[in-house]
Amino acid sequence: MEVRKAVIPAAGLGIRFLPVTKSLPKEMLPLVDKPIIQYIVEEVVASGLENILIVTGRGKRAIEDYFDQSPDLERHLTQKGKHDLLKIVRELGELVDMHYIRQKEPRGLGHAVFCARKFVGEEPFAVLLGDDLIYHKSPCLKQMLTLFTQVQATILAVQEVPPQDVNKYGILDAQLIQPGVYQVNDLVEKPDPAAAPSRLAIMGRYIITPQIFELLAHTPPGAGGEIQLTDALRELKQTQPIYGLAFEGQRYDVGDKLGYLKATIDFALTHHPDLKEEFTAYLSQITAKL
Ligand code: G1P
Repeated sequence: MEVRKAVIPAAGLGIRFLPVTKSLPKEMLPLVDKPIIQYIVEEVVASGLENILIVTGRGKRAIEDYFDQSPDLERHLTQKGKHDLLKIVRELGELVDMHYIRQKEPRGLGHAVFCARKFVGEEPFAVLLGDDLIYHKSPCLKQMLTLFTQVQATILAVQEVPPQDVNKYGILDAQLIQPGVYQVNDLVEKPDPAAAPSRLAIMGRYIITPQIFELLAHTPPGAGGEIQLTDALRELKQTQPIYGLAFEGQRYDVGDKLGYLKATIDFALTHHPDLKEEFTAYLSQITAKL
């Protein structure tokens, strides 16, 4: 089967970024001049998928407005002759076929994905988390889709993390079966570092078979009292193979303040040639003073 649809859970409360996330969705925080969620949507589009469902929640209307058309702004830019900006603003509304559903209460990632069941139907689908930004010339999701054509099974994007960080992630018990590809034996959400089966962490990109929905329907709350996608995947593993892909690319935890700052600096330097020279000079000047 082919993967055609992507789900982007964006209902989280953004606790790590309070107070700004009190009224601004964390997915709308900018990396220079584009909100984080646009990079995620661009990854989906660059990977060849055409249908996106964003699972939103209360206070997330700015996301829908962002991907909508903006007649007043477009008229203003036309009148002022700002054609470059007009093109950027118009293209946003035409990027892809965007759908929205609201998760009524924040009950965890597993529950957010469960909200996508009617949109997805009986097909394998992709899930991309907005806290994980992955940059590579071949998008992470595209790398996963290439593996999917071979294995036709659930795939998790993975990367090794330092031992002290394993309690922040879903962690695999897995064996390497070919370069970069792991066969998953088991998985556990946010284990104690002492009890973790490995340092292989799930990095916010999944391709999942639709049988996950039957399991999510009765997955009880797990780590942190939330319905965990990892717990449902663990059950899925009882009946189907699951693979881990050690993808190529630089990953940023943009849900964390330090990760966000690192991404901001890297993106300013690599995606904005107009800023590069002056910004590099400024960075050298301030680091010299430290
Ligand atoms: C979620 C998942 C976890 C995964 C992580 C990646 O955790 O539950 O398995 O490793 O995303 O960022 P969260 O960061 O939402 O607590």
